[in-house]
Amino acid sequence: MGIMVFGGEKGGTGKTTMATNIAAMLAAEGRDVLLLDTDRQGTASFWATIREEAESVPRVSCVQKFGKGLAAQIRDLEKRYDEVVIDAGGRDSMELRYALGVANRAYIPVQPFQFDIWTIRQMDSLVEMAQGLNSSLRAFVVLNRVSANPAVQEDRETREYMATERFAHLVLMESALKDRIAFRKAARDGLAIGEWGLDQKAHAEMNQFFEEVCRG
Ligand SMILES: Nc1ncnc2c1ncn2[C@@H]1O[C@H](COP(=O)(O)OP(=O)(O)OP(=O)(O)O)[C@@H](O)[C@H]1O
Ligand SMILES: [Mg+2]
Repeated sequence: MGIMVFGGEKGGTGKTTMATNIAAMLAAEGRDVLLLDTDRQGTASFWATIREEAESVPRVSCVQKFGKGLAAQIRDLEKRYDEVVIDAGGRDSMELRYALGVANRAYIPVQPFQFDIWTIRQMDSLVEMAQGLNSSLRAFVVLNRVSANPAVQEDRETREYMATERFAHLVLMESALKDRIAFRKAARDGLAIGEWGLDQKAHAEMNQFFEEVCRG
């Protein structure tokens, strides 16, 4: 699958949650995966450190890299691992741009209640620019923290809005994660949601997302 990046212009959308879960799930399938933390906050690295203490879960190698030379470093890492999963941090950072320049796939989490068409338009332009240099890049928007209350229609409204806007360089994924405290609890223990094991609905949603990611 090569290089995938979890990124976006906004903070707190779920990039680290998705990157760490996907990395752990790939490791569980026996893939040689590297989690590359390019966010100076170091949340993914912290997760990987806590994970070292957890018993009977596959190890996820994690390194932090920033700044100039990142694109070349990512290309080099790609040769040594089956998969490189990049957590790109919460801004239109230099790291995000470098990662988009070399990745095969970008995943951009969006929260329906934080939905901000301007940042999605920005991402569409950024992806267009990156695709000019990197024709292998495909970019996906994935809804996160969708309300688990069926009376709340933000998920449907966001999908309708995305369909109306027709962003030329972004594909909206079918799978989505709901707002579930289990995702926070699992992360605190350095685990993927399925390894934590106490919320089957959350696990099923992450599995569906994983399958869609693996289908490419
Ligand atoms: N589906 C979800 N349900 C409940 N909580 C979630 C969900 N996804 C993420 N969170 C929580 O929201 C917070 C922000 O998520 P996360 O750290 O993954 O976002 P981020 O995009 O990496 O943020 P940053 O921009 O700061 O790097 C965390 O506390 C995380 O546990
Ligand atoms: Mg993060």
